[in-house]
Amino acid sequence: MANAKKEPDVMEKIVSLCKRRGFIFQSSEIYGGLNSCWDYGPLGAELKRNVKEAWWNAVVRAREDVVGIDASILMHPRVWEASGHVQGFTDPLVDCKGCKKRFRADRVAEQKSCPECGGELTEARQFNLMFKTFMGPVEDAAAIVYMRPETAQGIFVNFDNVATAARMKVPFGIAQIGKSFRNEITPGNFIFRTREFEQMEIEFFVKPGTDEGWFEHWKAERFQWYLNLGIRPAKLRMRPHEANELAHYAKACVDIEYEFPFGWSELEGVANRTDFDLKRHQEYSGKSLEYFDDATREHYIPYVIEPSAGVDRSLLTFLVDAFEEVVTEKGETERFLRLHPRLSPIKCAVFPLVNKAGMPEVARKVFEGLKRRFSCFYDDRGAVGRRYRRQDEAGTPYCVTVDGQSIEDNTVTVRYRDSREQPRVAIPDLAPFLAEKLENAKSNIV
Ligand code: GAP
Repeated sequence: MANAKKEPDVMEKIVSLCKRRGFIFQSSEIYGGLNSCWDYGPLGAELKRNVKEAWWNAVVRAREDVVGIDASILMHPRVWEASGHVQGFTDPLVDCKGCKKRFRADRVAEQKSCPECGGELTEARQFNLMFKTFMGPVEDAAAIVYMRPETAQGIFVNFDNVATAARMKVPFGIAQIGKSFRNEITPGNFIFRTREFEQMEIEFFVKPGTDEGWFEHWKAERFQWYLNLGIRPAKLRMRPHEANELAHYAKACVDIEYEFPFGWSELEGVANRTDFDLKRHQEYSGKSLEYFDDATREHYIPYVIEPSAGVDRSLLTFLVDAFEEVVTEKGETERFLRLHPRLSPIKCAVFPLVNKAGMPEVARKVFEGLKRRFSCFYDDRGAVGRRYRRQDEAGTPYCVTVDGQSIEDNTVTVRYRDSREQPRVAIPDLAPFLAEKLENAKSNIV
């Protein structure tokens, strides 16, 4: 493959590809956009579903010791008092007296003056990151509810319900995917830090004393998940938190980090939350959240290991890692998304080579047969080379072309995105052929 290149402005290229191909658009764009809010387009929505499904399959369906829930975003306001978010989920904020811009105090601590205009900065004040709204028609203090800033609390308050209803025995976990909201002072880097985002979280409940072993287990499991989906090992690392970085509830925490074009940044945190949350909810709700271990006849409040990942951040990682620009011998620039086939929004595109000689009829029949099983796309417009290139950019691993020979012997070509191999496959064998490829894909290179 000719001259693969990665450049510092790669984020701009990815943002541009995302818009052009319908992965991600700016929210409310026709009104000038809304800062840090993004909409997933047709390809982005498929990719996002695939990321969530890959996570859910790995941590819920493939395990017997984790079950899933889907809790509501709005919760009783006491939840956020018990969790410590009302009091402590804050960032220090400073304002510039000149240009009025706002900054996180810790990010401008060294400068002492405004990084934009050099103006004088105010003293730092604590700013709570939770979005507030009102429940019901009266907008008073008694009606305040919060948009959840993490999905975790929906799991903690359902600990007893799930343990009882699903007859789960410690050690076991509860997983959840859902929206969270944080009024971030400095959102940015495309979908990396936004005010509305989705999390994929597991709270794994263990017997106190076994927590350190389970912490190691989940660190390894979660790191491997990214590698299994094709992330380059050299771009992924684990960074333990320093004691002064730990959240108020954590005894230990590691960040799984990826080397983005803007530097190494957190993709997922794995934390040992001890018995902090269950104890606090027991105290604030007055309901016992003790677990009775009928094997050992002991009562205890379980410790919790929490792997907490971001859907949007994982999706950005998969996009960045898969993006490649190639300059051909003819000097043309071609762009690829070398996504793992399991994540690709379109698994298979179907083309008639030309729109005559019976090819469109056969191609449509092939498409109708495949689309029941895979996410497929039919394209009969423009030169076939351009159609291939459009699919390379969309990350489509396989393109099926119906040509003159197809009419004679009922075979088609299956063109692989990365190797550019084009084996011929009999039409009746096509669905099992693709199913086998998708099921057994070990890397993101096809
Ligand atoms: N329950 C623990 C928790 O929420 P966190 O480190 O604050 O921990 C976990 O968040 C993950 O959620 C992060 O690793 C990141 O992937 C995602 N996340 C957090 N804030 C985000 C934001 N403002 N925008 C996008 N993703 C975010």
